[in-house]
Amino acid sequence: MEILNTAAALQAQTETWRREGKRIGLVPTMGALHEGHLQLVRAAAQECDAVVVSIFVNPTQFNNPDDFRLYPRLPEADAALLAPAGCTALFLPAVTEMYPQSTVLRFDFGALEQVMEGAHRPGHFNGVATVVSKLFHLSRPHRVYFGQKDLQQVAIVRQLIADLSFDLELVAFPTVREADGLAMSSRNRRLDAEARAIAPRLYQGLQLAEKLVQGREASPAAVQAAAQELLASEPALDLEYLEVVDAQTLQPLTDWQPHRAVAVCLAAHLGGVRLIDNVVIEG
Ligand code: PAJ
Repeated sequence: MEILNTAAALQAQTETWRREGKRIGLVPTMGALHEGHLQLVRAAAQECDAVVVSIFVNPTQFNNPDDFRLYPRLPEADAALLAPAGCTALFLPAVTEMYPQSTVLRFDFGALEQVMEGAHRPGHFNGVATVVSKLFHLSRPHRVYFGQKDLQQVAIVRQLIADLSFDLELVAFPTVREADGLAMSSRNRRLDAEARAIAPRLYQGLQLAEKLVQGREASPAAVQAAAQELLASEPALDLEYLEVVDAQTLQPLTDWQPHRAVAVCLAAHLGGVRLIDNVVIEG
C-alpha cells in the first residue's frame, strides 16, 4: 500500500492506473477507521483493480469548532488496518494541500439540504460537496463508496454526481452496527462507558419506528411520536431531531406514499457527543 500526501502524487498514480486499464475505487473517509469503513474498503477491493482510501478531517464541513478539534485522528493505526482490507493507495493530505486557498464556490442543494443534517449543521453539505468534488477530480474513480449511515450525505453526493456529470458509479453501502445495534461511528470513541451503555437505545427507537412503518397503520406523525417517546425515557439522551421522511427526497411525510421507501432518521447528543443514525424501510 502506498501512502500519498500530495494532490499531484494522487493524480499521477490514478492516471497511471487509468492508462493501464485498471478500474479505480475511491472510499473517502475522515479516518479513525472502524469496521464500517473497512467493509466499504473490502467491497471496493472486490469490485475494483485499485482502491484509493482518503483520510482527511475536512475543516469546511464542521460547523462546530470543538467537534473539529476533538475529532479523533489516528493515521498510523488507520494505515495498519487499510492494507489488509485491500487498500492500494492511502491519500493522506494536509489541510493546505486540499485547500491551498480558501474556496469561494458555494453549493446549494435546495430542499435536499433544508432538512435534518443540512438544517442543523449550516454549511455542512457545502463542505462535504467541496471536498468530495476535489477527491473525485484528483482520483478520477470509476466507483465511489459511501455508507447509508449518512443517508442525507448519500443523497447529496448522488445529486452532485448528476448535476456535475461526474462519470462514476455511486455505491451506497448498508450501515454496519455493533452487536448491540449501535451504528459504528468514529465519534463512538468519544463516548464514556456510561454513554456507551445508553447509546444502543437510539437504534431501539429506530427499530420501533421501523416496525410501525412496516405496518403502515399508524400515521407518520404517530410513528415519530412513538419513537420520540421511547427515546425521551432516557434522560441522558438529548434528541435533536427524529424525522419520518421519503427515503429519496428526504422530505418529511404527512402520509404514506404507495411503493415509496421510507427512512426514519435521527440525531442526538449523548455525553457531549453528537450521533446520527437511520433505518430505511422499503416501499
Ligand atoms: P466518515 O464519517 O469518516 O465516513 C466515511 C464513509 O464511511 C462515509 O461514506 C460513511 O457513510 C461511511 N460509514 C461511516 N460509518 C459507517 C457504518 N457504521 N456503516 C457503513 N458505512 C459507514 O462521511 C465522511 O467521513 C465525510 O463526510 C466524507 C464523505 C469523507 C467527506 O469528508
